[in-house]
Amino acid sequence: MRHTTRLRSATKIRGAAAKEARLHLDHTSKMYIHPPLSGVAIFACLWTLAQPSNFTTSEASFLKWGPYRPNLYFGVRPQVPRTLLMGLMWANAKDQNTITHTLRDTCEQDDGMGGYGWTQYDARSGGRQILHDEGNGIDITTDFVKSLQDGDSWAVRVAGVPKAVASSTLHTAIIFHLALEGTEDERAKTLTCQHGDQVLGTGHRVVAVCNGSDPALGAFRLQALDYNQNKIVKGLAVNSVRVAEDHIWQAKSVFLGKVKATKGDGTQFQDNPGEENMHFLQAIFEGAFTIEFSYSLSATQPLKPDYLDTRIKEDPLAFAGRVDVVFPRTAPWDSHQYAEFTESLLSNLLGGLGFFYGDSKLDASYAQEYEETSLDFWDRVAGAMSRATIATTKPSSLLSFTPSRPFFPRGFLWDEGFHLLPIIEWDLDLAIAAVQSWLSLMDDDGWIGREQILGPEARSKVPDQFQVQYPHYANPPTISLLFPIILSKITGSSPYTGKPSRYQSSPDEASKLLTGLYPLLHRHYAWFRRTQAGNFSAYTRPEGVITGEGYRWRGRTPTHTLTSGLDDYPRANPPHPGELHIDALAWVAASAKALQEMALHLGEEGDAIMYGKQVDETLHNLDVLHWDPAEKAYCDATIDQNGKYERVCRLGYISLMPLLLGLVDGNHSHLPSMLDLLSNPDKLWSPFGIRSLSASDANYGKDEDYWRGAVWINLNVLATLQLSKLGTQAGPEQARALTPCIQSTKSRDRDCAQHDHSGQGRRSRAFTGWTSCLLLLMSLETGSTENSEYLRSSRTALLVVVAVIILGLVIYFRRRAMSFLNHVPGIVLKKRLDSRKPAYQEIINLDELE
Ligand SMILES: *[C@@H]1O[C@H](CO)[C@@H](O)[C@H](O)[C@H]1NC(C)=O
Ligand SMILES: *[C@@H]1O[C@H](CO)[C@@H](O)[C@H](O)[C@H]1NC(C)=O
Ligand SMILES: *[C@@H]1O[C@H](CO)[C@@H](O)[C@H](O)[C@H]1NC(C)=O
Ligand SMILES: *[C@@H]1O[C@H](CO)[C@@H](O)[C@H](O)[C@H]1NC(C)=O
Repeated sequence: MRHTTRLRSATKIRGAAAKEARLHLDHTSKMYIHPPLSGVAIFACLWTLAQPSNFTTSEASFLKWGPYRPNLYFGVRPQVPRTLLMGLMWANAKDQNTITHTLRDTCEQDDGMGGYGWTQYDARSGGRQILHDEGNGIDITTDFVKSLQDGDSWAVRVAGVPKAVASSTLHTAIIFHLALEGTEDERAKTLTCQHGDQVLGTGHRVVAVCNGSDPALGAFRLQALDYNQNKIVKGLAVNSVRVAEDHIWQAKSVFLGKVKATKGDGTQFQDNPGEENMHFLQAIFEGAFTIEFSYSLSATQPLKPDYLDTRIKEDPLAFAGRVDVVFPRTAPWDSHQYAEFTESLLSNLLGGLGFFYGDSKLDASYAQEYEETSLDFWDRVAGAMSRATIATTKPSSLLSFTPSRPFFPRGFLWDEGFHLLPIIEWDLDLAIAAVQSWLSLMDDDGWIGREQILGPEARSKVPDQFQVQYPHYANPPTISLLFPIILSKITGSSPYTGKPSRYQSSPDEASKLLTGLYPLLHRHYAWFRRTQAGNFSAYTRPEGVITGEGYRWRGRTPTHTLTSGLDDYPRANPPHPGELHIDALAWVAASAKALQEMALHLGEEGDAIMYGKQVDETLHNLDVLHWDPAEKAYCDATIDQNGKYERVCRLGYISLMPLLLGLVDGNHSHLPSMLDLLSNPDKLWSPFGIRSLSASDANYGKDEDYWRGAVWINLNVLATLQLSKLGTQAGPEQARALTPCIQSTKSRDRDCAQHDHSGQGRRSRAFTGWTSCLLLLMSLETGSTENSEYLRSSRTALLVVVAVIILGLVIYFRRRAMSFLNHVPGIVLKKRLDSRKPAYQEIINLDELE
C-alpha cells in the first residue's frame, strides 16, 4: 500500500521543469544496515551492555508518565520497563467492515489522516495534540494534562468534532486500550476493569473503572468519564481479554480480531469486564463528543474535570510565554506567525520523546572480515554477515527523541545529538536524562548501537534485513559534543532560561553526574579511535604526518558509508583499506576537544593534557592528511593503484567538517577557502542553504541522491551557529564569516523571496526531529550593535541564510497547519536507505497543497 503511494507520487515528476517547480521531498534515510535475526542465547550471554537503565532521574519525577509511545497517535506509558501500556484508537463505526478499514492506532503514512501534531506540549505538564482525520471526517483533539502536584496523576480529554462536510450523525468509535505487561510471571501484577456508575455533580459520569497493582507503579486506577452532552449510541463496553505477552503491543490487531469474531453488526465486541491483562473501553458516539480518561494512584483522587478545564485554558499561555523566553525570536522572526511555528516545532520535538524497552538483534560474531583489511573487504564482509549467527540481546531501555513518528519512531544515535541541542535550552535535566539513557547502552568496549530497535514493537517497523546491529560500526559521536554545552549551562557560563535544573542548583548533583558520565564518554571515545583507526603501518602517508591520528569509517561499500551518517556521499571508489576519511578525523578532533574541557572541569589534569595533545595532533593531521592544496579543500584520501597516497576531493559537507565542528578559528589559514567554497553558487551555495555536495561534482544529484546535493537542516544549523560565532571573534575573516555568501546572497536576496512565493524548486531535506534545530537559529543574536556598515550588511546576509531555511518551512507549515511535522512526508526527511535498493522519494506538488 505504502509502495503504491510512492509510485504514484513518483509519477508526478515529469521532466526537469516540472521537477523544478515542485517541492521535492524524500523520506528517510539512514540506513538500515542491520538486519535482524533470531537470537541465540549463548551470544546473548556475551552481551553485557543492554541492562535496563538504572538512572532514576526521570522515573522519580514529573517525567515519569507521558505520551512515550510516539509511534501511536496517542499512546501513554511510564518510563518503566514491562509496565502498563495505554493508547487511544478510533474509527468510523458505520459497520464492521468500515471499522476494520478506518481504525487508527499507529502513526501511518497512508491511512487517510490529513495531518496531526502537537500544537503545544511540554514533557513535564502535558499539552494538546490535534489530529485531522480526513478519511473519517472528524477532527480529534487530545488534551493530555499532568498533575502539577504529583508525578503520578494525569488525564487525557479526547474531543471529537465531525468536519463540516461530514454529517452530524457520524458514528465514531473511541477505543481506549490498556494492558499490563508481565502478569504471567509476576503475581503482584493485576489489572481489572469494571463498569462504573458514579455520577459526578459536574455533569459527568464515571462509566468505567480499571484498577490494578504493579510493584513499580503501586496500586493505581484508571477511569473513563462520560460527558452529559454526549450521545452514546453504543457502549460504553468494557472488554477484558487475556492475550499472549507478545501481542500486548498489537492493540489494533487484537481488537479487530475480536470484533471480527463478534456476531450482530460487529461494531463492538462482547462486554465482558473482569481481571485480564488487556482491556478495551469502547463507546460509539454520534456527532461531536468529549470523553476523559484519567489515571492516578488508588490512594489519591483523580484529576477533576474542572481542573482540566483550567489547565487546558492556562497551559498554552504559559507555554507560549516560556517559549518566548527560552527561544526569543529576533527580528524578522518576532511576529505572531513565527510564534506558532516555534511552539509547534518544539512541541513536536518533545512529543516525539519515547521510552523504549526490549531486546535487540546483534551480530556478535566479531568476524575477522569485519576488520576490513583486504582490498575487496566489502565483499568479504557481506559474506561473513550472511554466515553470522545473530544474537538476541538482553532487554535494555532507552529514553530518546525520535526523528519521525510515522517513519522512525525509535532512537538513532547521531540524530539524538541534534535533537538535544534545543532540548538543552528548554529542559536541561530532560536532555541529560536522554544523554544518560543513551550512554547506559554502551557495552564494555565502548560501543553504542547506532540504531536502537528495541523489542518487537520497534522491530515491526523495520525490515528484517536491517534490524541487526554490528559492534564494529560507529556513528558520528554527536552526544559527546553536547558536553561542553551542558557544562556551560550547569556552571552558568552560558545563559540558561529553561526549566529549573537540579544539576544547576546543586553542585553536588552536578559533580555526581559529571564524574559518572566522564568515564563513559572516555570509553566511547577510546572505542571510536581504536575501531575506526586508519592503517598507518601498511600504507604511505604524507610527510610530516603524526602516526595514528587518521580514521576510517568501517562499514563502507562502493556506494555507501552509512556509518558516517552521510549515507551515499561519494567517497573513494573502489573503497580501499588504506583510506582515510576527513569527517571521521574531524569528529575525533571535536570529541577530543569536548573531553579535554570535561577533564579540565573535573580537575583530571593528566587526562586534560592527553586530550590536549590529541587535539593538537588531530588538527595537525587534518591539514597534513586531508588538506588538498590544489583543490584548496579538505578531502578524503585513499591509496592509488601505484600505492601512492591520493586525496579524493568530492567537495561538500565533508570539506566543511572542520568548520562545522568548531575546529577552525578566525585566523585559520584555510578559512577563506572554506568560505569561498560555501558561498560559491556553482558549488555549495544554494538559495535554500548549503548543499551537501557541490553542484559541480560529477555525482551531484545522482542515484539515491540523499547526500548528493540536498540541503540538510541539521548541518546548515551547525554551519550557521559556527559562522555566527566566528563573526564575533576578531580575525581577518570576521566579517565574511558572518556572511556565508555575502556576494551571492546580496544579489539573490530578492530571488530567494520570489522563489518562496512562486513555490519554485525548493529542495530541503532533513528529519522532522532535526528540523527543530531551527529553534536555535531564530533565537540567534543577529541584531547588531556594531556601527560598521560592513558588519551590518554581513549580518543581513546571515539572516538571509537563516531566512531562506525558515521561510520555506513556515510557508509549508502554514499550508499544512499542524500537520507538517509528523504527517507529511515533511520537509525534511532524512532518508534511510537500503544500500542496494534506492529508497523511495515522495514528490509533493506545492500547488496541490494549496
Ligand atoms: C540495575 O538494576 C538492576 C535491576 O534492579 C540490577 O540487577 C543491576 O545490578 C543494576 N545495575 C547497576 C549498574 O546498578
Ligand atoms: C479492584 O477492584 C476490585 C473490585 O472493586 C477489587 O476486588 C480489587 O481488589 C481491586 N484491585 C486492586 C488491585 O485494588
Ligand atoms: C594494515 O594493513 C595491513 C595490510 O593489509 C594489515 O596486515 C594490518 O593488519 C592492517 N593494520 C591495521 C591496524 O588495520
Ligand atoms: C587573530 O589574530 C589577531 C592578530 O594577531 C588577533 O588579535 C586575534 O585575537 C586572532 N583571532 C583569533 C580568533 O585567534
